[in-house]
Amino acid sequence: MHTAHDTPLISCRSKLLRELEADLLCVLLLSDADDDSVRELDTAVGGAIGRARASGELSGKLHERFFADVSDVSWRCRRVLVVGAGPADAYTQTRARLVAATVGMTARSHRAVRIGFGCAQFAEGASFVQATVEGLLVGAFRDERFKSGSAETPPIAQVELMVAAPMLETARAAVTRGTVLGSAVNLARELSNEPGNLFTPRVFADRAIELVTGSQTTVEVLEEDAIASRKMGLVQGVAQGSAEPPRVIVMRYQPVVETPGPVLGLVGKGVTFDSGGISIKPSAGMDQMKRDMAGGAAVVCAMRAISQLAPPIPVIGIVPAVENMPGGRAIRPGDVLTASNGKRVEVLNTDAEGRLILADSLTLAQELGATHLVDIATLTGACVVALGHHASGLVGSPTSWVETIRATADRAGEALWPLPAFDEYAEQLKSDTADLANIGGRAAGAITAGMFLKAFCGDRPWAHLDIAGTAWHEDTKPYHGKGASGVGVRTLASLPFEAEFG
Ligand code: BES
Ligand code: MN
Ligand code: ZN
Repeated sequence: MHTAHDTPLISCRSKLLRELEADLLCVLLLSDADDDSVRELDTAVGGAIGRARASGELSGKLHERFFADVSDVSWRCRRVLVVGAGPADAYTQTRARLVAATVGMTARSHRAVRIGFGCAQFAEGASFVQATVEGLLVGAFRDERFKSGSAETPPIAQVELMVAAPMLETARAAVTRGTVLGSAVNLARELSNEPGNLFTPRVFADRAIELVTGSQTTVEVLEEDAIASRKMGLVQGVAQGSAEPPRVIVMRYQPVVETPGPVLGLVGKGVTFDSGGISIKPSAGMDQMKRDMAGGAAVVCAMRAISQLAPPIPVIGIVPAVENMPGGRAIRPGDVLTASNGKRVEVLNTDAEGRLILADSLTLAQELGATHLVDIATLTGACVVALGHHASGLVGSPTSWVETIRATADRAGEALWPLPAFDEYAEQLKSDTADLANIGGRAAGAITAGMFLKAFCGDRPWAHLDIAGTAWHEDTKPYHGKGASGVGVRTLASLPFEAEFG
């Protein structure tokens, strides 16, 4: 049993509210909505909505929740959930996704199995439908796999979206895209939530084979011999302190129509547990380092979504999967490792392991033909200090490529913020002994980590996403619980559709 979520059947219907058969009819209320927009519903609930609006109990403010029973016996649904959506002019796609997540989370915790969803803003375009579907799915996600005997909340089985008849066809395509992306995000969350003892590099590789293999996608797993013959000394170095052998997961998507042109390379950090190695971490919070493979999970699940969405360009996904442990054979501070591209790296801190395994993997992506590179990693505590838990860090070059990534993320509803990549920062990585050191001191730690990776990318367009602050939620909100966020999946899966590759 390793899957926590069942994706509900989502369909679009053009029918009247009163015809909907469901446990819960969910509707959004804008804070500046007029009485007309809720009149039909208000009548069906015997005026409860109107009274709540008059008393101020229900104002339409963001994420507000209000339940009412349907008293009109001609309706097929007995209960209504009204969720506040804020002012109309601020109801963007990103907000639509978030409010829908509140709907999904609320409906699930109230044990609704069949839900209906009505939203006038669907009329503004299919992108609102897609965002809503993504939000519903990620909001309804619950991971109770490792709790026995708890009263499990049943998954939502069916969602009917009420859409105006002329929009039905475009809305259906949007539902498909939203379902692919929302389920891929949830799968990534499941992988990141699994404990390090059960989710080792070998298990990670098996899971990638299961999740990604398809008609247009292949998964190849490099084991110790292949890693050695490719001379991936940085991957080997990090792995050697652990009893668990490393794996390098190589996923390839080929479009049906093959044309010469750009190839996107996605690389994700897959440290299944990061103890810090000999430069061991303090105990407090170390348990969260089971999620140090969230970047790798994002790449695996983005590759799955890509295989389903079928973009026009080839994509290579690489996940170096290792465990960073302080065993008797572990690398020591001061050790020198040779990377697969021949560069020598002085390991001054064994806890800066992510950049080591990513460097060899970025080299591999280029050897396999990637022309444009993106890596994603829970890489530095410094990024959490710089940007907190809302935006992920973005370091890369050239500026045009960085901007492509940022704009894609923006449309996908993921907050990314650029940090500068001036060459001067690379000077902090100078080593007295080898070609470069794996740490650059306290100053600008998120940037120097990026500069380390840049040293392995030549002149290729490259961008690095630091998700150390965004890969999991430490608190509960109306639209998400604690645990892995699945950040990055939507951005990475959207990238091969960018005009830059057209
Ligand atoms: N996996 C950690 C970074 C991390 C910290 C992710 C907190 C999520 C939350 C990474 O491998 C690490 O240990 N980085 C070090 C680098 C330092 C030794 C230069 C760090 O940030 O302290
Ligand atoms: Mn570390
Ligand atoms: Zn790490």
